[in-house]
Amino acid sequence: MLKIVVCVSGGGTNLQAIMDAMDSGKITNTEIMAVISNNARAKALDRAKNHGVPALCLSPKSYPDRGAFNEAFTKKMEELNPDLIVLAGFLVAIPPAMVDAFEGRIINIHPALIPSFCGVGYYGLHVHEKALEYGVKVTGATVHFVDKGMDTGRIISQKAVYVQEGDTPEVLQRRVMEEAEWVLLPQAIDDIANGRIRLSGKSV
Ligand code: GAR
Repeated sequence: MLKIVVCVSGGGTNLQAIMDAMDSGKITNTEIMAVISNNARAKALDRAKNHGVPALCLSPKSYPDRGAFNEAFTKKMEELNPDLIVLAGFLVAIPPAMVDAFEGRIINIHPALIPSFCGVGYYGLHVHEKALEYGVKVTGATVHFVDKGMDTGRIISQKAVYVQEGDTPEVLQRRVMEEAEWVLLPQAIDDIANGRIRLSGKSV
């Protein structure tokens, strides 16, 4: 059984897609140990609770500085000791010590085709604003392993999504979620849980 912790910051639609996929049997052999949000008001926390999943908030605002937050966050994760950490719309940089402790066992969903529209400042709706500003005709989403860089870890899967005439950032974001993110992230978890994708850090 793959034990996962899902980290979230906002709406939690990717978390919902994971929980729905577990309910419908698209993800098997997997248990969500906890959902962690950096934002106490994240709708994702309600989604977790409604689903009977333990949910907790660890906010950088509750700590004197980023170092103290990073230490507490890493300590909490080490206590939980999941097989896999899933960043599902988590908008906080993962502390380097956590990357070391969970090397090869952290995955992230990014709402663009890496290496386009990624890195510092490219998160959430901004990614789609930048894609539309640039005028690309195809965008998409990427699931990748997390290393110490920003969106630089090894790519697991990608799915392309067409930009359409008249798209706003919000419309494009929704299409990328529906057509790519909510498909790719559950699939990657199921692939890991069932040995089709090997984790380098530890065998499950
Ligand atoms: C998603 O589009 C996710 O790909 C993105 O934030 C959104 C969260 O939505 N993540 C990033 O931009 C990470 N760089 P959700 O809370 O509804 O899942």
